[in-house]
Amino acid sequence: MHIPQQGLSKEEILDTLQAFKSRDMNWKAGKVWCYVYNPGEDPAQVTREAYLSFLNENGLDPTVFPSMLKLETDVVRAVINLLRGDANAVGHLTTGGTESIMLAVKTARDKARREHPEITQPEMVLPRTAHAAFHKAAHYLSVEPVLVEIDPQTFKVRAEDMRAAITPNTILLVASAPSYSQGVIDPIAEIGRLAQEKNLLFHVDACVGGLHLSFMRKLGYDIPDFDFTVPGVTSISTDLHKYGYAAKGCSVVMYRSKDIRKYQIFASTETTGYTLINPTVLSSKSGGPMAGAWAILNFLGEDGYKQIVREVQEGTRKLVEGINATDGLQVLGEPVMCMFSFKSDTINVYQLADEMSKRGWYIQGQFSTSLTPRNLHISVNQGTIHNVDALLKDLRECVEIVKQSTPIDSEAIRAMVGAALQSPDPEAALTQFAASAGLTGTELPSEMAFINEVLDALPDELCNVFLINFFNDLYV
Ligand SMILES: Cc1ncc(COP(=O)(O)O)c(C=O)c1O
Repeated sequence: MHIPQQGLSKEEILDTLQAFKSRDMNWKAGKVWCYVYNPGEDPAQVTREAYLSFLNENGLDPTVFPSMLKLETDVVRAVINLLRGDANAVGHLTTGGTESIMLAVKTARDKARREHPEITQPEMVLPRTAHAAFHKAAHYLSVEPVLVEIDPQTFKVRAEDMRAAITPNTILLVASAPSYSQGVIDPIAEIGRLAQEKNLLFHVDACVGGLHLSFMRKLGYDIPDFDFTVPGVTSISTDLHKYGYAAKGCSVVMYRSKDIRKYQIFASTETTGYTLINPTVLSSKSGGPMAGAWAILNFLGEDGYKQIVREVQEGTRKLVEGINATDGLQVLGEPVMCMFSFKSDTINVYQLADEMSKRGWYIQGQFSTSLTPRNLHISVNQGTIHNVDALLKDLRECVEIVKQSTPIDSEAIRAMVGAALQSPDPEAALTQFAASAGLTGTELPSEMAFINEVLDALPDELCNVFLINFFNDLYV
């Protein structure tokens, strides 16, 4: 578009914006099983109003906006208390899990730079199930990720495998509580002992689990300790915009003490401009997400969260049982909270996701690795639990439809990818192949099964190249 010569009316603008959503999946009807965490209309309304009431306040400078300092310290302290940190624990609000994780990695890198200048190529030990945000942090911050395979039955990393991956260059150990992909908790206590023995920092990614698991524990569920009560855990990330049900743009990164956190903060007085002190990545930042988070924590209260967690766990139990009882489907591992994935040994799960999508459901495909099968992921939340029975019914019907339809020839695709990789110019050959799969141009694909099949057959590095090219084409 061009900026219009004359401005449009408010009505035109809002109607047009609404119309842009016409092809979006319908999260409001609870049909999207990831991405959106909906606490219901009343809490969402409170969050919206609180968010808008701080839209223009700028978190850049707490001396001008003490309200920002108050909101941030309140929310951070509430989450630290929930995660059983003591008075020495500290933290910051960030824009999301990715930023929290990047800051934890930056903190580890800069602490190592100060205390271990002999380490010139820092490494962090990452379970295969750790979120891609760690790989992004590694990429941005020049820290080498050292990948550790997981147990293919439980989908948890083994502490002894983490131990074997430690080198003199290691600056950080990472584990998840839980991992997004299969929703299982790594052996946090064991890895904490390892971190202490080796005098290493240890970050627990509780982006999805921090709040939900803590309320499960308070409700009496058997949840292994994953928080600041575990000796050796030095930092934790917990997203408010996931199972805290806050509006997007809010996570918290926490440290056991200020001695560690100080490496996160950046200051600059080198320029002709104003003095800059930034604890997080952003400099100017809206007070909206902070106010939204403050509002939802106070509106729901412990009782409100516990009620949600109870209902969501009940819905998850039904869903997991229903999926396991569906011929051809099997839930992977033993998911501990309300996120899990399932595989099929009889049908192509990517085709199943496409069939479900024709009925308005969004279920996320996940690729295979050398030890784990391709699968579909479901995150259950308050906004989707009323659809558990409807989802199960459609899943069963769609499994039958896929059984009757022409299967995608995975073997042939793998053979073609293999042949392209052997050709004199693998990237050119594969680009042609990707085009035939619909992974080029400026249009969004309507069906994903074939594309996923091709991507799953590619080696990770090439797959990443194709995805980058895809987005490079898609956006102006
Ligand atoms: C375990 C885990 N860590 C980190 C992230 C990244 O969070 P965000 O998307 O808020 O950046 C996610 C996102 O789903 C996650 O599940």
